Amino acid sequence: MQNVMTRLLGTAAMLACTAPALSAQEPDGAALYREHCKECHGAAGRPTKQALGKYKDIKAFDAAFLGARSDDSLIAVLKHGAKDGKEMKAFKEKLSADEMGAVVKYMRTKFGGSGANNP
Ligand code: HEC
Repeated sequence: MQNVMTRLLGTAAMLACTAPALSAQEPDGAALYREHCKECHGAAGRPTKQALGKYKDIKAFDAAFLGARSDDSLIAVLKHGAKDGKEMKAFKEKLSADEMGAVVKYMRTKFGGSGANNP
C-alpha cells in the first residue's frame, strides 16, 4: 500500500512538472497539415488527383492564393469548413485555436504568401 501511494505521488509530481512544459510548446503545424489536410490539399499545396476528381473547385495553395487571404479568413474556413462543410468539413471539433493558427502559419511558411495584400 505504502508503495502504491509513493508511486502515485511520484506520478502526480511528474505530471505537474511536464504539463506546463508541454502547453508552452507550439503545436506542430507541419504534422497537423500532414495528418488533416494533405489527403485533399497535397503535401506541396497542390490538390491531389483524387481530390481534384471529386471537388473541382479546390485550388492550389500558393503565394498568390495565400497572399490574398488573411489569417482570420483562413482560420474561418477551418472552423466552418468549405461549402457549408459539404466539401471540406469543419475542423472546430478536431483542432484547437492554437492548432489552427499553427497550420495557417505552416501553410504561409511552406507555400508562401504573407497575407499582406489582405491584412
Ligand atoms: C476532404 C478533403 C479536404 C480536407 C481533408 C481538407 N480540405 Fe480544405 N478544402 C477542400 C475543398 C474541396 C475546398 C474547396 C471548396 C470550394 O472552394 O468550394 C477546400 C477549401 C479550403 C480553403 C479555402 C479555399 C478558398 O477558396 O478560400 C482552405 C484555406 C482550406 N481548404 C484549408 C484546409 C486545411 C488547412 C485543411 C487541414 C486542416 C483542409 N483544408 C482539409 C477539401 C478538403
